[in-house]
Amino acid sequence: MALFTVANAFTLLGLATFALYLRRFASFIHIYYFHSTTIQRYLMDADTYALITGASAGLGKELAVDLYDRGFNVVIHGPDSEKLEQVRQELQSRSALKRDVVCWAADCVSSDQWDFSRLTKLKITAVFLNAGGSPVKFTPVDKQSEDDISATVRLNALFPLSLMRALLPQFRASRLPILVVAIGSVASTYPPPFLAAYAASKAFLAQSMHGMSVDERFLDPSADMTFHYMHISELSLTKDTSFRSPSPQAMARYIIAVIGCGHREVVPYIGHVPDASSLSFLGEKRADAIIERVMEKHFFKK
Ligand SMILES: NC(=O)c1ccc[n+]([C@@H]2O[C@H](COP(=O)([O-])OP(=O)(O)OC[C@H]3O[C@@H](n4cnc5c(N)ncnc54)[C@H](OP(=O)(O)O)[C@@H]3O)[C@@H](O)[C@H]2O)c1
Repeated sequence: MALFTVANAFTLLGLATFALYLRRFASFIHIYYFHSTTIQRYLMDADTYALITGASAGLGKELAVDLYDRGFNVVIHGPDSEKLEQVRQELQSRSALKRDVVCWAADCVSSDQWDFSRLTKLKITAVFLNAGGSPVKFTPVDKQSEDDISATVRLNALFPLSLMRALLPQFRASRLPILVVAIGSVASTYPPPFLAAYAASKAFLAQSMHGMSVDERFLDPSADMTFHYMHISELSLTKDTSFRSPSPQAMARYIIAVIGCGHREVVPYIGHVPDASSLSFLGEKRADAIIERVMEKHFFKK
């Protein structure tokens, strides 16, 4: 009798595990092969804006191009107004259908008092929190300056949170469908050597997306706000792209494609799934060792 019960318990455990993996597999197939983006839901009319931070270069610029081509007016953000003006002209030369392009110059690092007042006058329905990053470091945090560490935290964590604090009241009042996409990094789960401040800032960003989505649902279960945190491991900012390291243009397409897939945290590019997911099967020590070896190969050649 006891043997029968133990056997039953193992069978149940096996079935539960199988069901869990089946669910994950079904969700994988759905995201990359069947899901159609819901981005057009946020293009309400000719007055609708998408806001993209860090849009003067790299992935942010390509997101702005994609959204502009889909018919959004865009607010492009970056630290340098001349660079933004160049991007504005590039965008407006793309099609006969001239959409509005608002340039918003603000440095995420040199202040922690940002002026968001001009954004509150616009009908923004989609926000891409993209400005971020960190140069590769070669020393641990105790050898990095306080200024350097707080710059990383402001850029990747505090600026996006402050921006959302400024926008949330108007989002709630509008009762429109709202989309918030944070561009994250696999580093938030697996910190590469010497990037503790960057990894922690991206983990903060991921958790603030989670927290804000919980808040909004709690405040008003009928509110139509979608939050995504996108796990990215590598982009090629040169022409030298590869399977692991796609161009910012391709990554922008992948990000837009997974919008509305039903998951808050998403790996938008299928080629990054091994980095973001399967490392968890290996256990902490082995996963950390793999990241260390990758960084060693690319940056710390002895
Ligand atoms: N590149 C990768 O391999 C990789 C991997 C994982 C995750 N990500 C994430 O993907 C996002 C985009 O990365 P990317 O490689 O496309 O970045 P990027 O080419 O370095 O561009 C970043 C954008 O942010 C702006 N920016 C930089 N410092 C700023 C500051 N202090 N204040 C305001 N804006 C500032 C830049 O403006 P300027 O052009 O004027 O400097 C630029 O528009 C980031 O959040 C990054 O963490 C990137």
